[in-house]
Amino acid sequence: MQTPDLIENQNVTLEQNIARLDNYIGHTPLFPIQNLHTSEQVSIFAKLEWQQFGGSVKTRPAYRIIRDAVSSGKLYKGKQLLDASSGNTGIAYAHLGAAMGIPVTLCLPENASEERKQILRALDVNLVLTSRSGGTDEAQEVARSMYERQPDKYYYADQYSNPSNWKAHYDTTGPEILDQTDYGITHYIAGLGTTGTFTGTGRFLKEYKKNIRLIALQPDLAMHGLEGWKHLETAHTPAIYDASVADEVRRVSTEQAHQLVRLTAQKEGLLISPSSAANLAGALELAEELDEGVIVTIFPDDLSKYGEISNQLF
Ligand SMILES: Cc1ncc(COP(=O)(O)O)c(C=O)c1O
Repeated sequence: MQTPDLIENQNVTLEQNIARLDNYIGHTPLFPIQNLHTSEQVSIFAKLEWQQFGGSVKTRPAYRIIRDAVSSGKLYKGKQLLDASSGNTGIAYAHLGAAMGIPVTLCLPENASEERKQILRALDVNLVLTSRSGGTDEAQEVARSMYERQPDKYYYADQYSNPSNWKAHYDTTGPEILDQTDYGITHYIAGLGTTGTFTGTGRFLKEYKKNIRLIALQPDLAMHGLEGWKHLETAHTPAIYDASVADEVRRVSTEQAHQLVRLTAQKEGLLISPSSAANLAGALELAEELDEGVIVTIFPDDLSKYGEISNQLF
């Protein structure tokens, strides 16, 4: 008998594989934060983004990037998907690529955690390790030059410049939030990495609720531990970033986030990542200032891929 990994199903097209996954991406629950914050007049809700295929918020843009590239003819069977990411986007491409039969090549700094590299290897990703000192900016440069040398071999997804990134959130995250709050949301608050989540969700919500307030969050320092967030003053600014979307920008420290990882586990029963906790820190601070309102934030992923931080905190 053939083992399953030797059976290639020639009858399933790429388009059919893309359609098959549609129901399992997004559609995440909106969780009420009720113990860390108790007020009758101000409620806080967090979108539990790890509860979808691929385990993080980044499956939404990764899926949309692949879908748009296939429908525009830029990505087809035989081409490889190429990008720079050691984080959730890379893991999302890896899950989707495996499920769709698309080979994935990722450039990532050599100091990316062993547990992440292992996940990527398990999902059959071709890893190109770049220097520790060059960080994610160098990984991006290497990916770009690999594409320029062999444009026929790769589809370069470039999540930082690809409009499909924010459009995924405009078409899914935004409408889900509006619907789940019965149009009652008054404040949306979330951190900036590639900026796709904040920009896409924020743009949609502003169109449907003119008086909503959109608050972007940033790490307080250039050297920070909020995986997934970018300190925009000192890093390469993503091409999709639009500074006009946010009504206000606030700062959160890594220490605040770590403290909230602990408290959220103890009081809400949720094991959340540092960037989820940083979003919650922003939401809690905002709630203190309001007399009434409905605040929505995002929990991009849970604590399962952050073994080192988990060991430090617990
Ligand atoms: C854990 C985590 N938090 C926050 C973000 C920021 O989201 P975005 O890139 O849409 O700005 C990311 C993005 O990779 C992430 O992985």
